[in-house]
Amino acid sequence: AAEIDKNGTSPEKLLAPVLSAFWDEPESWTLDTYHRHDGYEGLRKALAMEPDDLIAYVKDSGLRGRGGAGFPTGMKWQFIPQGDGKPHYLVVNADESEPGTCKDIPLLFANPHSLIEGIVIACYAIRSSHAFIYLRGEVVPVLRRLHEAVREAYEAGYLGTNVLGSGLDLELTVHAGAGAYICGEETALLDSLEGRRGQPRLRPPFPAVAGLYACPTVVNNVESIASVPAILNKGKDWFKSMGSEKSPGFTLYSLSGHVTSPGQYEAPLGITLRQLLDMSGGIREGHRLKFWTPGGSSTPMFTDEHLDVPLDYEGVGAAGSMLGTKALQCFDETTCVVRAVTRWTEFYAHESCGKCTPCREGTYWLVQLLRDIEAGKGQMADLDKLNDIADNINGKSFCALGDGAASPIFSSLKYFREEYEQHITGKGCPFDPARSTLWA
Ligand code: NAI
Ligand code: SF4
Repeated sequence: AAEIDKNGTSPEKLLAPVLSAFWDEPESWTLDTYHRHDGYEGLRKALAMEPDDLIAYVKDSGLRGRGGAGFPTGMKWQFIPQGDGKPHYLVVNADESEPGTCKDIPLLFANPHSLIEGIVIACYAIRSSHAFIYLRGEVVPVLRRLHEAVREAYEAGYLGTNVLGSGLDLELTVHAGAGAYICGEETALLDSLEGRRGQPRLRPPFPAVAGLYACPTVVNNVESIASVPAILNKGKDWFKSMGSEKSPGFTLYSLSGHVTSPGQYEAPLGITLRQLLDMSGGIREGHRLKFWTPGGSSTPMFTDEHLDVPLDYEGVGAAGSMLGTKALQCFDETTCVVRAVTRWTEFYAHESCGKCTPCREGTYWLVQLLRDIEAGKGQMADLDKLNDIADNINGKSFCALGDGAASPIFSSLKYFREEYEQHITGKGCPFDPARSTLWA
């Protein structure tokens, strides 16, 4: 994690990192280290409150879901019906897979106890006695570290029977997925957790009403839950003093691609890409930014004209995209936009679960057209066809994967139509002629 320079180029009100504060310390992941940094103090404060007051407190803090959609976390907790006699579950979505997104995995690796503490707080609030972490299966070292942290937490009395004498009994299960992107969609994740093939369920009912085993379930992202202990410990006003009015707080931005120093940068919401690049060394030397994604490939791309867009939900939305997972993938002028969009679309076609026709068929046809254009075998009419197919996926698919697949098509045609046309008129890729025969 990069320490933000508080005296230099950083914008006003930038505070020291919170989630990533001690990632660089030796053995940052152990309970001992976490205790040295006020670990589990937020939990003690939470347990002194009534569960409903705790939910109201988190709601008042303005914390919004960090998985991509930005849904208010406290409001999600409030949806869980009380006194219904059913078990309630908390499921942490740690199946991070959005292209370019790489914040939850380092967070879990470096500071797993912030998540575990947040889980205990959330379960106390929603009156749940069983929580699950659904982890992306490929990251075996993270799985091991998480198991070890959970073991430490049980041993210290933060999990198990009568947590810290509060009367809360809580079991925590860590479950590793099998590497399907669609299992990050919350209802597909629940199906997978129940032992079925992971495919999205119809919503409503939302998980808050009928989730895991058809019981009321909160599904929250890793970063959302890991942010809760600091809010309890330092106060909701402290949290609200950062970021913007409707998007308060700190967050992790993942900077990748043609930048001098890729990595996780923790900063208040509302910072701009220009500021982040200033702090991190900028685009690689001798090059300039061409296009970038504010929140992974599922969010419409931006260009160098958007460097000053505030990176919060409202700012990015007003500029025509979505904040999403805050995965800032930066591409310089050497990158072929058609090539990049082809690679992303191949990913969506591969990961489409096949449940609904617009996404299953549409992503396949998008790939065929893009490969032809990239190889110099496209026709001008293909550009309208691309738009048309994307239009028939967008808003007409069963889950957000379809919309995500359509988004780079729309935005690249909007900003770089000329580059598509150059591939067609020049019968090949203007960036690398050798590539034009790639799909021949
Ligand atoms: P959504 O906006 O439909 O829902 C967001 C959350 O709010 C869900 O947990 C949902 O259950 C809850 N919710 C919404 N309306 C509700 C209501 N009326 N009652 C109760 N609960 C309600 O977004 P969705 O489809 O869950 O996720 C899309 C987002 O996922 C995108 O913004 C994208 O950025 C992100 N994403 C993240 C990935 C990652 O690796 N972290 C991968 C792919 C997409
Ligand atoms: Fe499956 Fe794609 Fe339909 Fe989602 S949009 S249900 S991933 S086929």
